[in-house]
Amino acid sequence: MKVLIVGGGGREHAIAWKVSQSPKVDKIYCAPGNAGIAEVAECPSIGAMEFDKLADFAEENKIDLTIIGMDDPLVGGIVDVFEARGLRVFGPRKNAAIIEGSKAFSKDLMKKYNIPTAAYETFSDPAEAEKYLETSEYPIVLKADGLALGKGVLICNSFEEAKEGVKTLMLDKQFGSAGDRIVIEEFLTGREVSVLCFCDGTKIQTMTSAQDHKRAKDGDQGLNTGGMGTFSPSPFYTEEVDAFCKQYVYQPTMDAMKAEGRDFTGILFVGLILTPKGPRVLEYNARFGDPETQVVLPRMKNDIVDVFEACIDGKLETIDLQFEDNAAVCVILASDGYPEHYEKGFAIEGLDAFAGKEDSFVFHAGSKLADGKIVTNGGRVLGITALGKDLKDARAKAYAATEWVSFENKYMRHDIGKAIDEV
Ligand code: AMP
Ligand code: GLY
Repeated sequence: MKVLIVGGGGREHAIAWKVSQSPKVDKIYCAPGNAGIAEVAECPSIGAMEFDKLADFAEENKIDLTIIGMDDPLVGGIVDVFEARGLRVFGPRKNAAIIEGSKAFSKDLMKKYNIPTAAYETFSDPAEAEKYLETSEYPIVLKADGLALGKGVLICNSFEEAKEGVKTLMLDKQFGSAGDRIVIEEFLTGREVSVLCFCDGTKIQTMTSAQDHKRAKDGDQGLNTGGMGTFSPSPFYTEEVDAFCKQYVYQPTMDAMKAEGRDFTGILFVGLILTPKGPRVLEYNARFGDPETQVVLPRMKNDIVDVFEACIDGKLETIDLQFEDNAAVCVILASDGYPEHYEKGFAIEGLDAFAGKEDSFVFHAGSKLADGKIVTNGGRVLGITALGKDLKDARAKAYAATEWVSFENKYMRHDIGKAIDEV
């Protein structure tokens, strides 16, 4: 069969790599893709938001299955466009992707259906938000309602900071219309865990757990980023936590979406925080995590195409999801200066070292081919993933492999997965 993947980052590289292992698949396309993805897929230069062009491409090339990797096209309704043209596509429709597209929606959903989350209020008027903040307890969390590349969340330690935050989000519109509405919520403390789930509209199955490191610098300092590295499994995601979330979070979320007439088919990413009072949902995403995918899929035993098909057909119960009893660590090699200002276009050397390796992989996040050379083309450039017998082993291997590649302004955190040493 022929598969089209929509997106062009490390997540889509990991998806394309996993799809390439399916014996059912003869040909993979990834639009727009990147220089690394081009090793396993043909990459037509169609942007992820060009829905009609993508659907034309799928029709002309007789694509059997399209997988949407990114959030923007999902929230924008790409699945509806494909379905309207009779094309087989994996991902939530627009009315379900809103679970990621609007934080106000997801918070209201959790409140209505008693899914545990931080207490919150929603505001469209900056003056009212400010008034509320005058008598709030600090720290407090401000969130832009809409999509903001994972950066629209401000943790404020005082009223002054929060007032400034309201200005940034609602008046200066740093994240555009994403800040027309904001959610102000209780600050929670605890370990964060990401759980990616396959959903078929009615049923849900969780993948193995992962943890992301969102801050730019070692010791969780610096700005929030899309993610500087991940590890899987999370030792903090215990059987007890899993049992709690099975009862109060996963299926209840599916049932809530169904009750709202928004059946969710695709990947539900549940961002949890394990507070002293128990797990709470921090956020939902309507897609695979990036870079969570780079540690979760290398550990997955199933043919992922079978799982995608079962989700689309509403037959997830026919799948016995299985993961290796090992661990994975992914260290992001970024351009120095990310997530703010950074330069691009530097040649990447040493990629050949990964050829034929069974337990070390390089997933390209931001790279492109220029004059026959692979060059840096983004803030996050590469994800170096290694498998090991346990997290310590995987971490040592991943950091060793980060030395195999070089490019100017190469930057990484040195403590990815370090929290696990404390366990
Ligand atoms: P989100 O995009 O909602 O996951 O938020 C991004 C990051 O901000 C999370 O991964 C947390 O580290 C932090 N965060 C979000 N909400 C809260 C909260 N209520 N309490 C503490 N930290 C939070
Ligand atoms: N790594 C966090 C995300 O994909 O949203």
